[in-house]
Parts: sequence; C-alpha cells; structure tokens
Amino acid sequence: MRYGNEIIEEVRDRNDIVDVISAYVSLKKKGSSYFGLCPFHNEKSPSFSVSREKQMYYCFGCGQGGDVYHFLQEYNRLTFGEALKELADRAGIVLPEEELSPEERRQEDARVILKNMNKDAAVYFHALLMSKRGERARAYLEERGISREMTNHFGLGYADIYRDDLYVYLKGKGYTDSQLKDSSLVTIDSVRGSYDKFMNRLMFPIMDAGQRVIGFGGRVMGKGEPKYLNSRETALFDKGRNLYGLGYAKRSKKKGIILCEGYMDVISLHQAGFDNAVAPLGTSFTPGQALLLKRYTDQVILSFDSDPAGIKAALRALPILRESGLRGRVLSMDPYKDPDELVKAEGAEEYEKRIREAETGRMFELLKLYEEYDQKDPETRTRFVHEAARKLARIEDNVEREAYIDAAANRFMIAKKDLADLVDRYLRDYRYEKNNAQYRKKPESREKAREKKEEQKNQPQRVLLTWLVEHPDSFPRIRKYVGPDDFLDPLYHGVALMLYDQLEEGHVNPAAIVTQFTDEEDHNTVAAIFNTHLKYAPEEDDRDKALTDIIKKIRLASIADEMSHTGDIVRWQELLEEKSKIQRLELKLT
Ligand code: GTP
Ligand code: MN
Repeated sequence: MRYGNEIIEEVRDRNDIVDVISAYVSLKKKGSSYFGLCPFHNEKSPSFSVSREKQMYYCFGCGQGGDVYHFLQEYNRLTFGEALKELADRAGIVLPEEELSPEERRQEDARVILKNMNKDAAVYFHALLMSKRGERARAYLEERGISREMTNHFGLGYADIYRDDLYVYLKGKGYTDSQLKDSSLVTIDSVRGSYDKFMNRLMFPIMDAGQRVIGFGGRVMGKGEPKYLNSRETALFDKGRNLYGLGYAKRSKKKGIILCEGYMDVISLHQAGFDNAVAPLGTSFTPGQALLLKRYTDQVILSFDSDPAGIKAALRALPILRESGLRGRVLSMDPYKDPDELVKAEGAEEYEKRIREAETGRMFELLKLYEEYDQKDPETRTRFVHEAARKLARIEDNVEREAYIDAAANRFMIAKKDLADLVDRYLRDYRYEKNNAQYRKKPESREKAREKKEEQKNQPQRVLLTWLVEHPDSFPRIRKYVGPDDFLDPLYHGVALMLYDQLEEGHVNPAAIVTQFTDEEDHNTVAAIFNTHLKYAPEEDDRDKALTDIIKKIRLASIADEMSHTGDIVRWQELLEEKSKIQRLELKLT
C-alpha cells in the first residue's frame, strides 16, 4: 500500500458514503438506513442498503458490500489508487506526492500499467494513421465515408504492416516483456519471437464509459479473414461489461440509447447526429451490458442488422433488457443491411422516422412468431394463435397485457374475445405452475447444503458482531462473556479482533475493517457480517432473551471446542463449571 492508513481514513471520513452513492443510485431513507435498487444485480424491489452510521453498503439480494472505496472500485471499475484519488479530489484533500521505489513500481497495480499501455498504443496507432504511413488506411476511411472529425472523435488508428512495429515502440516506452504479454497487444513466443497482434488493420480503440482505452478492434481494409480482430479479455478489458461508444452516448441529449451491432454502425450513426449509439464488443449482448445501460436510460432502441443473425440477436437481447427493467424497441433496417448503410443511403431523417415507427420489443417478438407459421394452413395458424396467447399470458402487468391482447387481435386478425379467453386459460396454467414450483423445490446440491450449514453455524457470531457495531455501549457487558477468541471461524476471529480493538478505543469503524479484506469473497462475507440483524424480538425483553441466547451459543460452542482439544484435566473441569454457569445466564442488554 502506497498511502498510509491515516490518509485512507481521512479521505473516507470526509466522503460520506450516502452522499457518494446517491450520485449513482437513487436512495430512499428507511429506518436508519437508505435503500435503493442494487446496481450490481438485476432486481425489481430495493435490497441495496447504505448505512451512514457504518459508512458501508450492503445488498441483501446479491451479497455485495463494502465501504465507499469498494463501491467506487466496483461501480466504476477503478483500482484502489484511482478510487482514493477520486474521493480525495471530491473532498478537496491533496494527496501526498507518490514516491515510488523500484520495488513499489513493480508492485504497482497491473491494471494501471495496462491502462497506460493501451493509451500509449492508441496514441501511436492514431499518429500512424495521420502520418505518411497511414495513407492507405485514410483512403479506406474515405471510401467508407467516415469524416475526419469522426476519425479524431473515436481516435481511430492504423496498425502498420511490420510484424513488431508496436512491440518495438512500446519497448521503447519502457514496458517489459511480461507486461506486454499481459496486454493482448503483442504475442511473445519462444519460437517465433515477439510479434504484434494487429498488423495492417484499421484500429478502433475501445473505451470504457469513462473514456479510458481498454482494448482494440482491428478491421482488415477491404476483403480478408478474419474481418475483425478484437483484443482478448485482460485484467482491464471485460467484454461483457463495456459497450463501444458509451462514453459519448451517456452524455447524449437524445432520448434512449441505440444499440447496434458493430463499430462501423456506431461511428456512422454518430456522424449522422445519433450520438446515443453504442455496440457490444464482438460478442452478443449480455446482462452486464444491460445493467450498464440502465445507469443512463430506461429505453433501448435495437438497431441490429436485417439478416437472420441480426434478428436472432434482437430476439436474444429483448428478454435481457426486460429482465433489467429496460424497455426495448426494434428498428427495421429494411431493405438495407445495417444502420451504417441505411443512414448513408437515406440520411438522418429517414433513420429518425424509423425510430418513431419502431416496434415495441413485445410486438417484434409476436411478429417474428407470426412469420414462423404458415397462416393459410388452419392447423399451423391455430398453433400460432396458441403460441401468441401463451406469450401474452406471460405479461405480468394487467393493463399492459390487455393492451397487447387488443393490439395482437387487430394485427393478426384474431377475434378479440377468443384471444382474451385463450390468454386467460394460459394465465391460469401459468399461475398454477408458478405456485407449484414454489412447493416443488429442487433438492439442494451438496455444496449448497454445506454452505448453508456453515452459514447457520456462524449466524450467532454475525448477529453479535452487527449488534456490537450498532450498540457499542453494551460492549462492556458482552466482553465479560465473549472475547475475540470465542469466534472460532478464522475469518470471524480476524474481524472480532479488529472490532474489539476499536471498541476498546471507543471508535467503531466497520468500514475500516472491511477494507482490510482484499479477497473479493472475504470482503463480501465481512460486509454481510456487519449487516446481520435479529430476526424477531420487537419488545426489549424479547431482544434481551434473543441476545442472551446468542451469547450463550457462541460461548458454549467455544467451550465445547476447547474441551475437545485440551488435555489438561484441571482446565477441563473449569470449562465444565463455566459451561453450567453459562447455561443459566440471563443478561439485560437493552
Ligand atoms: P463493417 O462490415 O465494416 O461495416 O463493420 P461492422 O462493424 O458493421 O461489422 P459486422 O456487422 O460484420 O459485425 C459486427 C461486429 O461483430 C463488429 O463490429 C465486430 O465487433 C464483430 N465482428 C465482425 N466480424 C468479426 C470477426 O471476424 N471476428 C471477430 N472476433 N469479431 C467480428
Ligand atoms: Mn455491419
């Protein structure tokens, strides 16, 4: 760690977690905590909590949690150092100059090095494109109708024809072979030596929402295979959680976000004024990308290619959008291949018109279903009507379902009453199935069952740790019966040691404890430990009883553990005596 604990603490203290998270997630006060929709998983009702007292967040749905640094790291995909800088800036704290020893430099986060390297490569490719050597690539851009302005806007570049042009350049910048190997920009091979991944290609730097270069796509100029090469995933480049063009689209004044298939589509659309266009990164649309879009919009306009692959991609993307609570609409490119061709042939106005006329996601699905069946054959026609009714029955909102029954009846010329009756029937089946499924739980896997048992075993320890954080004044009474060593699980023991220290000093700071656990799984477990509450006990008396039970359970488990290990007969008898004392314990804590 380059910065001392003191500065890390100061920066945390000066950035209230509720204020920071409110800039990203809309929060509502409920009891002593704030609640909102979790940005780390798809959900319809809020289980994401932020506590001002604890300076921590925790999601009861997906189990992610931590302090303000961790939130920024996860949400904006930052390194710890970057999150620290951002929060220090926010609070107007000037960080001490970083003085890196050679050893520290080696330890510097690999992601920071990757970021710098990607940026250096992007700058280099762009300079090459603009130089004499980039003549042919510039001619190709011109042929594709991409303006100079867009070329600069998207930082397009050119990778030259030599096998190690970029390698030599980056070596000159001081990067080591092992750093270069991790970047997916060059390949280092004992037989063939070092050579660039991208040769003689038009380069599209891929940037994250904060406009940092995280990878590249490279297109052959003209015909050739493969048409595109994309960087493989690295510590920096997560294809499922980034979108091409998002850094611009998120600031667009246009309504909704246009999702298209390729880099070229995005660039042409931006050139035509649709600066809200984005595209996935050479893989199909993912739930992670839907969550990302949801930060900026509630409506996504699908503008995929008009070929069967594009239609299939749209049919796959729509349910993903729906799952995240995004409305999806689908544009028709007909008779053109893709948005790039369409805006070039017909102009921006025509594209705007198509946006206005776009089908809703559900209607698009029904239309595609319609096309699958021969409507002249009574048998297949009947099957279609049943399929459509089954689909309509899945619409949860009553008003929406009614509206679609109307629209579908009109559009596909089905008698409205027949369709409504049929939907009703499937709706009943569907509800029955849903209810049944709740009773017919799948047998749990062994692993799951073991995890659950483990969690139950640790439950009293969790409740007590949360209680101590929230009621530090009861610490002197609790300490008499339970010490840090009574927390048997190593992780819990570590947490208890730190928390007891803080309690002794009269300064409880769970966020500082969570930060100590850098392993992702441990980190989330510790966040969960500090968010475990007594389930029942509305009255004070009940709470005393519940807490006493918990203290008993913890201490008795610890005594049992020691008794099973000790060979000392005197100690053994002491423990036996304490055991019967504890069993009779009654505490007043509230
Ligand atoms: P143009 O064909 O030049 O207009 O580009 P495009 O972006 O429209 O390409 P296309 O519609 O063929 O493909 C859409 C996206 O899929 C591209 O932007 C790439 O991300 C990806 N892709 C296309 N071809 C390949 C390929 O051969 N390999 C890989 N890995 N990805 C590809
Ligand atoms: Mn295309």
